[in-house]
Amino acid sequence: MADEPPNPLQHALPGGIVPEDEVVRTEKRWLIIMFGMLAVMMAVIVVTSITHALHPPSNVEPIDPLTLQLQGEFVESNLGTALEPDGVTVRLIAQQYSFVPECVNVPADTPVKFRLTSPDVIHGFILGDTNVNTMVVPGFVSEVRTSFAALGDYRMPCHEFCGVGHQGMWARVVVVPIELFPKLTPKQRTSCVSE
Ligand code: CUA
Repeated sequence: MADEPPNPLQHALPGGIVPEDEVVRTEKRWLIIMFGMLAVMMAVIVVTSITHALHPPSNVEPIDPLTLQLQGEFVESNLGTALEPDGVTVRLIAQQYSFVPECVNVPADTPVKFRLTSPDVIHGFILGDTNVNTMVVPGFVSEVRTSFAALGDYRMPCHEFCGVGHQGMWARVVVVPIELFPKLTPKQRTSCVSE
């Protein structure tokens, strides 16, 4: 016993023993702080999901990554922005090291659905100042819904490391006035060129 190193905590207290009620009080205090932190984190999740529509991506839809460019929804002629009965749908392929197409036009104040998939590795898809943030996983279609209140250019960088060219993997979404959008040709919608 005499060889044991002195405990600095015990030294500060009379008799070198921490009274039980003090131990209980301290543990209760930490318990309250811990539950408080949990409550704050839960509140942040609930509030942002209600006010900013921030939800974890929940679309589970398999697709064959080997044939997606040859047949079906993601053939080249079907990529880009399309006007559909339920709103606007943007189809993109994320691949090493670009998004196809690299720029799309979408109308403001309209429900926009992004559908993405990858033929090679995992990529990331994020649009700053919006609720759009998802991974693009080969073998699956990622779907995110949003609506753009502000006009302008939104950068969409790949935010999942996907190889040596990852940092150069960028694309753009251009939000145009809702009354201008129907006047754009399908090519303009999908390439952002002005004709
Ligand atoms: Cu694609 Cu990083």
